[in-house]
Amino acid sequence: MMKVAFALTVSLVAVTAYYFYIPLPSTISEPWKLMLLDGIFRGIVHVGKLAHWLGICHFIQVLDYTVTLDTLGPVTNDNLRVTDTAVGGVNVRLYEWTGGAEGELKRGVVFFHGGGWALGSAKKGSYDVLCRKMAEDLKAVILSVEYRLAPVVRFPDQYEDAVRASKHFLQPEVLARFSVDPERVAVSGDSAGGNLAAAVAQQVAMDSSVTVKFKVQSLIYPALQTLDFNTPSYQQNQNVPILYRVLMVRFWLEYLNADLSLIDPLLINNHTALDQSAVDPHRPKVDWASLLPAEFREGYEPVLQALGTSRPVEEIPGLLDVRAAPLLAERDVLSRTPRAFILTCEHDVLRDDGLMYGSRLEEAGVDVTIDHHGDGFHGCLTFAFWPTHFKVGKRTLANYISWLDQTCSLFLGLFLSSDHE
Ligand SMILES: *[C@@H]1O[C@H](CO)[C@@H](O)[C@H](O)[C@H]1NC(C)=O
Repeated sequence: MMKVAFALTVSLVAVTAYYFYIPLPSTISEPWKLMLLDGIFRGIVHVGKLAHWLGICHFIQVLDYTVTLDTLGPVTNDNLRVTDTAVGGVNVRLYEWTGGAEGELKRGVVFFHGGGWALGSAKKGSYDVLCRKMAEDLKAVILSVEYRLAPVVRFPDQYEDAVRASKHFLQPEVLARFSVDPERVAVSGDSAGGNLAAAVAQQVAMDSSVTVKFKVQSLIYPALQTLDFNTPSYQQNQNVPILYRVLMVRFWLEYLNADLSLIDPLLINNHTALDQSAVDPHRPKVDWASLLPAEFREGYEPVLQALGTSRPVEEIPGLLDVRAAPLLAERDVLSRTPRAFILTCEHDVLRDDGLMYGSRLEEAGVDVTIDHHGDGFHGCLTFAFWPTHFKVGKRTLANYISWLDQTCSLFLGLFLSSDHE
């Protein structure tokens, strides 16, 4: 009997270890914690695939259900008012710092949460905690946009929700109602939310009907392009949790409402093979051989096919649409966007999306701060809070908030406004 129990225990430990163990780069932050987190995440993905296959519900719905389990209600404390409301017909969770003097103007931040345009919520635990912290630390009003998600809606609906909420908020009378200083409004987001923030920053910069512009854009490991799924960071981190390369490509396909069978040609860059002339005008905008600093290119070769597949470009209009892929913007558009902070992580497939965007913005004359974390992994900034806290999570969060604090400051606001006159 003892022997059987012992054998069972040993096999259970072995199976568990086998399930959780993955080889990780030695430079990554707290690898064992990450393995545990990743094992749980992979388990959820497996359940999602099974449920999808059995026809119980969509793969994405299982993922979304689990990541929103830790949702909190709107809670108000002494210095913070949290309300669920709508602006411009788009649902938002609004965080208003109430600690200041009556009528004192505050900073504003329009924030888009991440989750592959399919998952997550402004009300989700870590995003809710993040926005509360931002509101308190920055003495600000945070508009966390609850844009609609795939698979219920597809591109451009997520983008349109993001634009509509932003433009509504930026109206002078709306800002005044929330006591927000028009000279100190930022746009920000992480991952897919960073994609929306970059796209919205471009749209607002170009739209002459919007009189109040964003003063800064803060992008946390944003997804910005679909033309090269073999950048050095995609190659290097294809099997690094929690954002595997195939999962990222799948998120893109779900967002752009594409046939999932196109994942195979996309993974080998068949959609941007040299015989695909529709891509030609965009090639220089994603050319990492010229856009990445040398240290990030070393040891990597471009994956460039001579002959490819025309189906992706023909069937997925969003693939070449700048509203979906902000890295495809023209220099002139980029030059009008505000001062930028881009947070990148070494162990992240999206590292080079952010770095290339930084290079292109800088080339266009925009002031860019790249905050690169050698031990960072995708998603780490939202892992700054108990029980899923990482050292790199706390550090990225601190840098993110302090940059907003310094650049979106009263002094700078006054300085810029007098500059305009
Ligand atoms: C890539 O394109 C080539 C040339 O058209 C084709 O032979 C190959 O099957 C394609 N590969 C995939 C995975 O689609």
